[in-house]
Amino acid sequence: MQISARNSLLLKRSLGAVWHPCTQMKHHETLPMVPVARGAGCWLYDFDGGRYLDAISSWWVNLFGHSNPRINAALADQLGKLEHVLLAGCTHEPAVELSERLSRAAGGALGHCFYASDGASAVEIALKMSFHYWRNRGRPEKRRFVSLAGSYHGETLGALAVTDVALFRDTYAPLLMTASRVPSPDWRGAEQGESSFDYAVRRAQDLERHLVERHGETAALIVEPLVQGATGMAMYDAEYLRRARVLCDRYEVHLIADEIMTGFGRTGTFYAHEQAGITPDFLTLSKGLTGGYLPLSVVLTRDAIYEAFYDDAVTRGFLHSHSYTGNALACRAALATLAIFDEDGVIEENREKAARLTAAAARLAAHSRVRHFRSTGMIWAFEVDTTDGAFAREFSARALERELLLRPLGNTVYFMPPYVINDEEIGLLVDRTTELLDAFDA
Ligand SMILES: Cc1ncc(COP(=O)(O)O)c(C=O)c1O
Repeated sequence: MQISARNSLLLKRSLGAVWHPCTQMKHHETLPMVPVARGAGCWLYDFDGGRYLDAISSWWVNLFGHSNPRINAALADQLGKLEHVLLAGCTHEPAVELSERLSRAAGGALGHCFYASDGASAVEIALKMSFHYWRNRGRPEKRRFVSLAGSYHGETLGALAVTDVALFRDTYAPLLMTASRVPSPDWRGAEQGESSFDYAVRRAQDLERHLVERHGETAALIVEPLVQGATGMAMYDAEYLRRARVLCDRYEVHLIADEIMTGFGRTGTFYAHEQAGITPDFLTLSKGLTGGYLPLSVVLTRDAIYEAFYDDAVTRGFLHSHSYTGNALACRAALATLAIFDEDGVIEENREKAARLTAAAARLAAHSRVRHFRSTGMIWAFEVDTTDGAFAREFSARALERELLLRPLGNTVYFMPPYVINDEEIGLLVDRTTELLDAFDA
């Protein structure tokens, strides 16, 4: 078989058999899909010698490149020992060690880890635990949740109820529990002359007004710390988190930090909430947790919450489960990922790399079509001035022609590359993105 024929055959078979996520399948009548034969570092390769720079880390999961030798070796070792065992009534070293390490990284105040597979399941768990905590403490009326305008917490029904992205939510709105929204501290909403700090303070006043009125029925506030991803990489000042923490304490409402996207160094610190000097009551993690290798998510909780479930009565316990909870291979991939953080001084090195990418993107940031060029840690985003409703799809297709895997969110283009991106790849990414915008101008 010709290699190029393998590409087209795979695409044909995929369209015939696979229902792809977050996709109107009919669009693939005209839009290209990428047949991926293998990955190495920041690159994905097709069967035809074609290559694509994974500038979005495969939906924000990959940290240290595809086919990373150190994570591969850890998985190969684990395969020879234990692939999986149920975590109810059994335990294993990778789950125990990972729990200890994640908790240590959060300063030790979040003492227990509850595992699931995907981000949305972790959000479901945090919501259920928060509600169940209040119930166990004799306050079952605290059963409502509040999230930020533009929030994204996943696609399952509970997670979607606290999500505020119309495209994903509106169709299923009749199925969702009622949740409240407060205005987002996204600094693009600031008045002229108002700093991002002052804007965060103003938006925290909205949160306070909400909690004054509704705290009696509110179980938890859920936030994406510092960067609201899926709504279009909305960034905000850490002051909002500081104030949210104070308000949640004052009004007896849990603070859930959904760090599924922002955790593991993405925003410049290991966990984003560190930048506010706070500790949440629940911390949800996934995506980068396994370095982008295997589905694994986790909810870390404060000891006082864990203790509220610790009882002789079965029903006061948290009886939630998933078959693959705490999968040994996934936990081992996570441990190998954490080892790379420790051994390579990743957070420090990323700081310098981020500064280099920002400097390299100066021409892009100044492009006539670009609005609100911004960055936080290893995330860069900007809006493209366009009225084209199909901009995101067209931009993605043209990016592939230039060896870039990019998926704008509406008219927001963002870079979230694997941390192993090198200077040559950084140059290629910003130069070709700038060329793409020039081509849209033409
Ligand atoms: C902040 C946040 N929470 C939850 C999720 C859902 O995670 P998953 O797609 O693994 O279900 C995402 C996914 O993008 C996310 O960004």
